[in-house]
Amino acid sequence: MKQFRTGKLFAKELDEADPLGEYRSKFHFPKKESGQEVIYLCGNSLGLQPKSVSAYVEQELKDWQALGVKGHLHARNPWVPYHELLTEQTARLVGAKPLEVVVMNTLTVNLHLMMVSFYRPTPERNKIVIESNAFPSDRYAVESQIRFQDYDPSRSLIELQPRSDETTIRTEDIEALLEREGNSIALVMLGGVNYYTGQLFEMERITLSAHKKGCMVGFDLAHAAGNVVLQLHEWGVDFAIWCSYKYLNGGPGCVAGCFVHEKHATNTELRRFAGWWGHNKETRFLMEPQFDPILGAEGWQLSNPPILPLAALRASMDIFDEVRMDKIRTKSELLTGYLEFLLEQHPGKRFCVITPKDPKQRGAQLSIRVDRKGKALYESITSHGVVCDWREPDVIRVAPVPLYNSFMDVFEFVEICVSNC
Ligand SMILES: Cc1ncc(COP(=O)(O)O)c(C=O)c1O
Repeated sequence: MKQFRTGKLFAKELDEADPLGEYRSKFHFPKKESGQEVIYLCGNSLGLQPKSVSAYVEQELKDWQALGVKGHLHARNPWVPYHELLTEQTARLVGAKPLEVVVMNTLTVNLHLMMVSFYRPTPERNKIVIESNAFPSDRYAVESQIRFQDYDPSRSLIELQPRSDETTIRTEDIEALLEREGNSIALVMLGGVNYYTGQLFEMERITLSAHKKGCMVGFDLAHAAGNVVLQLHEWGVDFAIWCSYKYLNGGPGCVAGCFVHEKHATNTELRRFAGWWGHNKETRFLMEPQFDPILGAEGWQLSNPPILPLAALRASMDIFDEVRMDKIRTKSELLTGYLEFLLEQHPGKRFCVITPKDPKQRGAQLSIRVDRKGKALYESITSHGVVCDWREPDVIRVAPVPLYNSFMDVFEFVEICVSNC
């Protein structure tokens, strides 16, 4: 583990030695009224815009201007197979085979589509396990699926709780639950990285334990994709979904990702909600009534995809593919470790970090719990040109993003935070 030092000079040294330092200049930073760039530590909510986005989007706008409907087949990057341009890169990003991934819809829509296929409750096995502080959309989706199948969330929804004096959930407690109640659990559906605490779950271990008991396993990777190294295929995860506007910098509301493990992806017998874009590409335009799903995750597509957001996402994914997740993660551990180290220099202050200390159990985000008047502290930090976010009831989330944040960003943030405490 790196020995950190206090002082601005050390932040400068770290930036000078940073192999990813040049990537900062590839992103647009919002500016303060003074014209100075903000300290942007909010890439876990909305990633910054790569400067290359406009050229990618402009290309499609020009082709639309010049070609109209003919762009579907004759644009420089024809629109009918446009989403396929993202397949290989997406597969590399999440550790999947190309057949197992597709970029489509938005996260919650994909979660519903996946639960239609992978939540198959029976009277004996109808429970779904989520985190007690799961993102509300996941909770709503899960509860509504339970009701849709005529089961009762008060009996079929299990919420994993941290131990009474702890803030994150222990893997051994998940395993104990599976051991105890696994035979009645249909689906384990957790966030890869919890949005509130920043805990990175041990996905491989959880998948293994759940499978031993015959449960399906899905992960919401909204806070994990582009943040941590994923090996979804190897881990045997049944399905996963993620959005692309956080660490993946696809832009607000951008198209989401979906993973269906190979063992299910070619199973055309699986119950699913269908749409024409999931139909066999060879015969799609014959417009026949019988649905014939594409073999692979693409077979879950519903509609022809929105090209402009996909173009923006391509700009960002090209950067990810150039850098690769292992290098991003190496810097991320250092950057987040440095943030933690600087915060720890102020033990008397009224905040504490609730994110796990072990770098293997967290990504880029640290969640800082504030004792009293936390919102006021958050507001005074932001009035000094820091962009981070506040989550009720008492947490400031801070995410130094390795692709564009510097060690100096982290240093300055802590100076502002501590001096406003
Ligand atoms: C963990 C998590 N899950 C689900 C969602 C909902 O995503 P969407 O609005 O794209 O469906 C979010 C949004 O921030 C999230 O953070």
